Amino acid sequence: MKVAVVGTGYVGLVAGACLAETGNDVICADVDAAKIDSLRQNRLPIHEPGLEPLVVRNQRDGRLQFTTDVGAAVERSDVIFIAVGTPPHEDGSADLQHVLDVARTVGRHMNRSKLVVTKSTVPVGTAQRVRAEIAKLTTTPFHVCANPEFLKEGAAVEDFMKPDRVVVGVDAPEAAETIGQLYAPFVRTGNPIIFMDLASAEMTKYAANAMLATRISFMNQVARLCDAVGADVTLVRKGIGSDRRIGPAFLFPGPGYGGSCFPKDVKALMRTGQDKGVPLDILTAVEVANERQKRVLFEKLEQRLGKALAGATVAVWGLAFKAETDDVRESPALVLVEQLLAAGARVRVHDPAAIASARRHLGERVTYATNAYDAVEGAAALAIVTEWLEYRNPDFERIKQALSRRLIVDGRNLYDPQRMARLGFTYESIGRPAACASS
Ligand SMILES: NC(=O)c1ccc[n+]([C@@H]2O[C@H](COP(=O)([O-])OP(=O)(O)OC[C@H]3O[C@@H](n4cnc5c(N)ncnc54)[C@H](O)[C@@H]3O)[C@@H](O)[C@H]2O)c1
Repeated sequence: MKVAVVGTGYVGLVAGACLAETGNDVICADVDAAKIDSLRQNRLPIHEPGLEPLVVRNQRDGRLQFTTDVGAAVERSDVIFIAVGTPPHEDGSADLQHVLDVARTVGRHMNRSKLVVTKSTVPVGTAQRVRAEIAKLTTTPFHVCANPEFLKEGAAVEDFMKPDRVVVGVDAPEAAETIGQLYAPFVRTGNPIIFMDLASAEMTKYAANAMLATRISFMNQVARLCDAVGADVTLVRKGIGSDRRIGPAFLFPGPGYGGSCFPKDVKALMRTGQDKGVPLDILTAVEVANERQKRVLFEKLEQRLGKALAGATVAVWGLAFKAETDDVRESPALVLVEQLLAAGARVRVHDPAAIASARRHLGERVTYATNAYDAVEGAAALAIVTEWLEYRNPDFERIKQALSRRLIVDGRNLYDPQRMARLGFTYESIGRPAACASS
């Protein structure tokens, strides 16, 4: 099938590459000329495991092309995926200007009947707005489809290739058939394509992200209470996760959720609720809890270091909002760094993939270490914010020699507190009793 994917960010590039991998003739279009130029030379603008070989192979074999000419991409294609950004407005609502811009381009280049698919996360009613924008500019018949994306950054290719489910909102059988054919190779093991109406598909995406954000905030608050009462959240997590009604996934406490989706999607859903007179009180609490959680690591450092924090060097491991991505949008690590700088600390940071994107936010106000151990050299404390694999089993002896205060504050509960105490560290984590060096 001839497919155009408009927007080559984390979602569009992955969708385009995976659709090409299954034999479709795909063109990815973006207004960012520098991005398209790099992609043509097989240089990927994002870090996403497994993506580069797909782009290289499919570009080489002629199934994947890149262009800045969105109109031409539309004209040559039968199916057009809109995968542009939907950032939040001041009031929390999703900014649809890019989505509607693309819709107008589609309308102007509707040279034959097409299926127009919204893959961006968009509020209920957007597919209908897309239809209305296109219909103003053409008399050629076309269909719209709402097909929200559920991939996780850091595992995006895997998620797209083997989705738990594909959610498809349609209001015409022809649209359902076309999109069903496109997705058939990805659901061969029986995971469902769930067909529904347009509004329900749009709502499903927000409901999923709001539920996941709620689960995280719930566990973060349980962890705080565990801290206060001397319980261990790891055991509590296992205890509740084995209940089949709850399940074990997504119950890990941490330094607060971030990324390009949960914060903005929670806000957008709350805004829709307000507009419709259905306040989503739970989500108000989820946001408050998350903002509070983003202070946890700083508070633990402040409590341990006291006045010595001002002027001290603190090492921060991990800047990406989670492991296996270079995305620092709304990352709790950036919040921690800002808090440390405001308190007068010097900050030395390390991240295996996100230094370039973090530099755009932090500039030269911090020192960037190319090696995790360089970051800790002479620092008073080490704060761990992102759960990168390379941080999971480090050379503790080397860290001990490097740190002046032997203090580790771990936002991801990577290590065993008792072992850390035996190794001679003061070790703080999330929702587990602190460990102090055993003498
Ligand atoms: N990132 C994720 O993990 C994820 C997961 C599921 C859904 N989503 C949703 O998918 C959408 C895209 O997210 P993303 O993270 O890929 O965004 P992104 O910011 O990484 O990429 C968006 C791309 O769209 C391009 N663009 C903007 N306006 C354009 C236009 N008029 N024509 C052509 N290109 C244009 C930008 O240049 C950019 O390259 C958002 O709605 C997001 O909420 C994201």
